[in-house]
Amino acid sequence: MNLTRRKRSVLFSVFISAGLTLGGMMNAHAQVSKFKPGAVWPDNNGVHINAHGGGVLYQNGTYYWFGEHKIGGEAGNVAHVGVHAYSSKDLYNWKDEGIALKVSDDKTSDIAKGCILERPKVVYNARTKKYVMWFHLELLGKGYDAARTGVAVADRVTGPFKFIRSYRPNPGHMPYYPAGTPVAEQINAQHPANKSDSIFMRDFPGGQMARDMTVFVDDDAKAYHVFSSEENNTLHLAELSDDYTSHTGKFVRVYIGQSTEAPAIFKSNGKYYMIGSGCTGWAPNPARWFTATSIWGPWTYKGNPCVGSGAQKTFGGQSTHVLPVAGKKNAFIFMADKWEPKNAIDGRHLWLPIVFKGDDIEISWRDEWSLNYFDEQPDQKQATQKTK
Ligand code: DGJ
Repeated sequence: MNLTRRKRSVLFSVFISAGLTLGGMMNAHAQVSKFKPGAVWPDNNGVHINAHGGGVLYQNGTYYWFGEHKIGGEAGNVAHVGVHAYSSKDLYNWKDEGIALKVSDDKTSDIAKGCILERPKVVYNARTKKYVMWFHLELLGKGYDAARTGVAVADRVTGPFKFIRSYRPNPGHMPYYPAGTPVAEQINAQHPANKSDSIFMRDFPGGQMARDMTVFVDDDAKAYHVFSSEENNTLHLAELSDDYTSHTGKFVRVYIGQSTEAPAIFKSNGKYYMIGSGCTGWAPNPARWFTATSIWGPWTYKGNPCVGSGAQKTFGGQSTHVLPVAGKKNAFIFMADKWEPKNAIDGRHLWLPIVFKGDDIEISWRDEWSLNYFDEQPDQKQATQKTK
């Protein structure tokens, strides 16, 4: 075959681009078999998983990961697309399931494109057979002033979710104080004792501020919404209605005046655990954890769960969720975000195993690890043996 120079060069570029595409496709199908905290984490299409500030729901043998879909640059710090969903059977390999909740093109919608929609969490309500998504919502063009929570509902786990409403929870309700709570911890409406109490009273008529958040479903199917309130000074842990789509008015304040964000809750051996962060915007700070024997507290502050090098900055991340591993006793994964506010889409996922030391927990850095790690921990081994 006698090809001209130009034809030869066209053919060459066709081969090169076919090779790249094929390479890309082969990459896309490369199986992941380890967690590599902080590395690019490709989904089934070879694209870095775009689910930030997220959480994971386990349903009928499949894990579903929901998180903020970010775009590139600083523009990615607000919501242009919505909440992205992924599914996985093994926690390493994730299939892109598309956008579960879309932001709206209607500028008057609470979830108008350009709003701030953060930390979505999805739970399943066995009674209504609906999937319920809660998230932190800031109205378009209002910075972080609205401090609302939003709720959306779907019939299928990956959506489409239908936005229901957004609001500040529990207007006109005083906190619930379990018997024995020291009077000094209770709000005196006439004479609030500190800055956070005063903010609480300011917002009492219209509803309490709700920013960073998570949702937790207990063994008895009751669900709770935990959120940074009172200008981020104090966490609220609030009961949700039986259908999980509204607040009942019953709530407690946790770690009053100590500025906790990024709450994540889990339960192990009948005890409640909560991990959160301090409030330093997108920059990392030391994590903090709490424990309680009742969901209503008292929640005892236990310090920083992270140990070793990098622990003072949570290894560069901020908590978002604690994921119970199905089929393994006492096996929990600490999920955190390493934010990239200058190029939001490049935010990385830090997943690390939680290690139990008796009733205490520890998290340390690992460059890579797999679920087998849990089988090698003495406490986990004991727990597994006990259940045999
Ligand atoms: C910290 C929060 O945890 C994030 O979700 C986000 O709201 C940033 N602050 C914004 O600065």
